[in-house]
Amino acid sequence: MSAGPTQHPVILITGASSGIGAATARRFALNGYRVALAARRLDRLQALQAEIEAAGGEAIAIQADVSDAASVEKMVAQTLKAYDQIDVLFNNAGFGRTKWLEKLDPQEDIAAQINTNLTGAILAAQAVLPHMIKRRSGHIINMSSVSGLLATPTYSIYAATKFGLRGFSDALRREVGVFGIRVSVIYPGAVTTDFASHTGASRKTGVSTPKALVLTPEQVAQAVLGLARRPRRALIIPAVSGLAVLFANLFPGLTDWLQERFFTRPERGL
Ligand SMILES: NC(=O)c1ccc[n+]([C@@H]2O[C@H](COP(=O)([O-])OP(=O)(O)OC[C@H]3O[C@@H](n4cnc5c(N)ncnc54)[C@H](OP(=O)(O)O)[C@@H]3O)[C@@H](O)[C@H]2O)c1
Repeated sequence: MSAGPTQHPVILITGASSGIGAATARRFALNGYRVALAARRLDRLQALQAEIEAAGGEAIAIQADVSDAASVEKMVAQTLKAYDQIDVLFNNAGFGRTKWLEKLDPQEDIAAQINTNLTGAILAAQAVLPHMIKRRSGHIINMSSVSGLLATPTYSIYAATKFGLRGFSDALRREVGVFGIRVSVIYPGAVTTDFASHTGASRKTGVSTPKALVLTPEQVAQAVLGLARRPRRALIIPAVSGLAVLFANLFPGLTDWLQERFFTRPERGL
């Protein structure tokens, strides 16, 4: 007999080989979840699986590329084969290429970001839905970013994917809530992970998130656990980032001017 959702719930985490995904896997394992770890770097997933098992938890490592529909199908099938159930899908895999739009490669930067951050999350949600609908329960948590609420220069494609996740999540919530399935979006500000090493950006200005507002992956993991326990539509962390979003929504013209004056012009040398 498979375990009931309140006894040993199962979370499937994409992008579990590093940063926020790995921290979330550790946090959920410590809190009694069986954890399906998915990403492309299998060696890292296997090391994390061993670490979780050594601490008395349960995990499986699944090599998956979320930008590939067949790989996503297989990832969900492997999780269900191992654990019979998926209580939480954490669509976390993603990366950003933060260069001027005219410098982005159409395939490597633009298509790859959209296929991973947005389409990957959509495909994974689609793949788990038949199971969740059948069980009349489940929770899909999508990883957006403050960039999914407030767009900044050089984050054009990244923002498009993260804004896209918001629209996708709102619509999906209204499609599947009737089956007892929850859909949440988390919008973190800057987090200390390997994210920055994949952006390909080099900056002239020192414009960056104030240190006091920079999060650790463990803080985000704790917030994801909180969402799983008390599902909400949306969570912005740190909460103070919500003020910047509010400001940008209230004063879009001033926001344009500030970003051009203090970022775009000095960065472009104008
Ligand atoms: N760090 C930040 O400041 C920040 C802020 C807000 C939101 N976020 C979001 O948080 C999420 C996690 O990022 P992170 O900061 O933890 O960065 P990270 O340490 O670079 O982790 C990214 C993860 O995504 C996985 N991934 C990338 N492409 C993939 C693909 N095609 N298929 C499967 N997995 C893939 C990577 O694994 P493999 O390379 O092994 O596949 C890795 O595990 C991202 O969605 C990011 O946009 C980050």
